[in-house]
Amino acid sequence: MSSILVTGGAGFIGSNFVLDWLASQDDTIINVDKLTYAGNLNNLHSLKTDARHIFVKADINDTERMAGLLAQHRPRAIVHFAAESHVDRSILGPGAFVTTNINGTFSLLEAARAHWSALPASEQASFRFLHVSTDEVYGTLGPNDPPFTESTHYAPNSPYSASKAAADHLVRSYHHTYGLPTLTTNCSNNYGPYHFPEKLIPLIIANALAGKPLPIYGDGQQVRDWLYVSDHCAAIRRVLRAGRPGETYNIGGWNEMSNLEVVNTLCRMLDELRPKASGHYADQITYVKDRPGHDRRYAIDARKIERELGWKPVETFASGIGKTVAWYLDHQDWVRDVLSGDYLKWVEKNYDARETPSEGTV
Ligand code: NAD
Ligand code: DAU
Repeated sequence: MSSILVTGGAGFIGSNFVLDWLASQDDTIINVDKLTYAGNLNNLHSLKTDARHIFVKADINDTERMAGLLAQHRPRAIVHFAAESHVDRSILGPGAFVTTNINGTFSLLEAARAHWSALPASEQASFRFLHVSTDEVYGTLGPNDPPFTESTHYAPNSPYSASKAAADHLVRSYHHTYGLPTLTTNCSNNYGPYHFPEKLIPLIIANALAGKPLPIYGDGQQVRDWLYVSDHCAAIRRVLRAGRPGETYNIGGWNEMSNLEVVNTLCRMLDELRPKASGHYADQITYVKDRPGHDRRYAIDARKIERELGWKPVETFASGIGKTVAWYLDHQDWVRDVLSGDYLKWVEKNYDARETPSEGTV
């Protein structure tokens, strides 16, 4: 039975990828995850009896362990999701981002290179190292700038995006220098089931239902491109199958929206699905101090992956957000579980320091 090794498969996108993969493909998955605050094995509990899911609690910085897993399982590919992923956390504590996103990717590349170099020629030719990255490496756009393409210059602005950019460069160099068959994907903002409620969409749903403030950084006019997570997973499967080694592929939803539009949409949906005793969820919107260095706009030109590999998103924002809100309303127990312990310390650290700007300053 052939297998693939996935890192970070207990996080938001990784767990969606593992679930989608095992529902549609034959390969076994070796799922390597350190289980940081963002990793949650509950996401994968439906796989408890599925022998094709082998979970390994390990840190990607442990090169020897990674080498051992590659030697033991001989996967045909590595799909690398593991990362520290939250921009606000990178501002309050960049060290972990350097450790996992840069050093961890380096460690994994070293293990992959040693393993791949020793493979017979036929296995070498089909082996792939797919690195999952972000559109944030390209920096920020003005309102009329064209969307990011694969040849847009890197200009990362946060410790998170800088650490992802460094990892992208390392991956590129391992292809260029050693011939490792790498693929890199740069994707826009994902949303959907199992999204950790420190990120905008699940945070707004959770706070709205709990009667808490809905924090909008700055003026709320920052623009993001939103992609439903299963569309991202499908794009990764497509790149893994047909992408050209050494290439990068931008992935996006052709769906730019301001943060305020997103939050107002969520409020309107909740007004309909879970009406409040009085008033509207939008009454809970609260403007707070902006994120330092906040990128104003991201937009993705995803024509290359459509042209070369035939991928485009299936979900519109309307269909994807409908599924997402329904999932959160049906999985309040999952939300309750993650909204405890260390998460509460994070909320205090991130939001208590943001005094609400006085009226008229945003
Ligand atoms: P996440 O924070 O939800 O999950 C990250 C996972 O990695 C967790 O399960 C965590 O336990 C694991 N992990 C962290 N450090 C590790 C280490 N040292 N060793 C092993 N495992 C470790 O992240 P996500 O939102 O699912 O993002 C996954 C990947 O996709 C990241 O590389 C991120 O940069 C990229 N990405 C995310 C988005 C998005 O919108 N969320 C968009 C584009 C790209
Ligand atoms: O663009 C892809 C990136 O999208 C990924 O690489 C990151 O891993 C992922 O976290 C995401 O980054 P963002 O910073 O765009 O996502 P976040 O959900 O943190 O914020 C989305 C927007 O909403 C951003 O402009 C900041 C704003 N925001 C966020 C929070 C948490 C608020 O206004 N209030 C909030 O409380």
